[in-house]
Amino acid sequence: MHPMLTTAIKAARRAAAIINRASLDLDQLTVLTKQHNDFVSEVDRAAEAAIIETLLEAYPDHAILAEESGRQGSSDFQWIIDPLDGTTNFIHGFPQYSVSIALAVKGQLDQAVVYDPTRNDLFIASRGKGAYLNDRRIRVSKRIRLSESLIGTGFPYRDFKHMDTYLAMFRDLLQKSAGLRRPGSAALDLAYVAAGRLDGFWEIGLSKWDIAAGCLLIQEAGGLVGDFKGDDSYIESGNIVAGTPKVFAQLLQVLAPHLTPALTEI
Ligand code: IPD
Ligand code: CA
Ligand code: CA
Repeated sequence: MHPMLTTAIKAARRAAAIINRASLDLDQLTVLTKQHNDFVSEVDRAAEAAIIETLLEAYPDHAILAEESGRQGSSDFQWIIDPLDGTTNFIHGFPQYSVSIALAVKGQLDQAVVYDPTRNDLFIASRGKGAYLNDRRIRVSKRIRLSESLIGTGFPYRDFKHMDTYLAMFRDLLQKSAGLRRPGSAALDLAYVAAGRLDGFWEIGLSKWDIAAGCLLIQEAGGLVGDFKGDDSYIESGNIVAGTPKVFAQLLQVLAPHLTPALTEI
């Protein structure tokens, strides 16, 4: 295994230990304070600090892009970190959230870890070496028809400017797929596409740390990832479509009539 991937796994497990410990006190903390988000940011920050400490201990010269603390350093090696993806689920004790860590080398995704601490599901990938779930090789599903596909998505919930566009997409795909799911952790949703638990995924306006690791997992599992035109801007725009090769193409086709200039210009 690539030593940088080993370090990323160690970092993800340290973050997960912090998250798991905090999840046991959720009830008490919810009763004690109304400021759920403050509490959660405490967990977010502690998990993120543990990840960064682990990574920089091994690679002091590497750069960091992390959700809570932003950018630090400048290097050909940049770690992209979401210490807790699925915060809303976490606050509610809804067991669907993850730790997401990716390494980009000269801007190209190279290593990926998405870890689900509630199920102990560890998804990993190294560029050119395939994707794995708990040591077993994973591939995207063999589904070729959208009508038989289970599709993941994320609802708009902070920024509602694309609401109408999103609902039109949703309405169309509700009728053209076998079912839609909104599990609540984009990083884990993408890992599920890589593992064949979902056949496709789309969402508007995600952040780099939500998707970096998940995208490499899908590519290494034989799937495709793109923006709404099928191009490469998804990491920057956060407008993302993913799936098995055939389902990806059909998703793009169904989404095309709903696209607005704001979603395709970057
Ligand atoms: C969120 C989750 C969610 C997605 C949101 C993200 P957070 O990340 O990935 O599934 O729909 O757009 O912001 O805030 O829980 O780290
Ligand atoms: Ca996130
Ligand atoms: Ca987060």
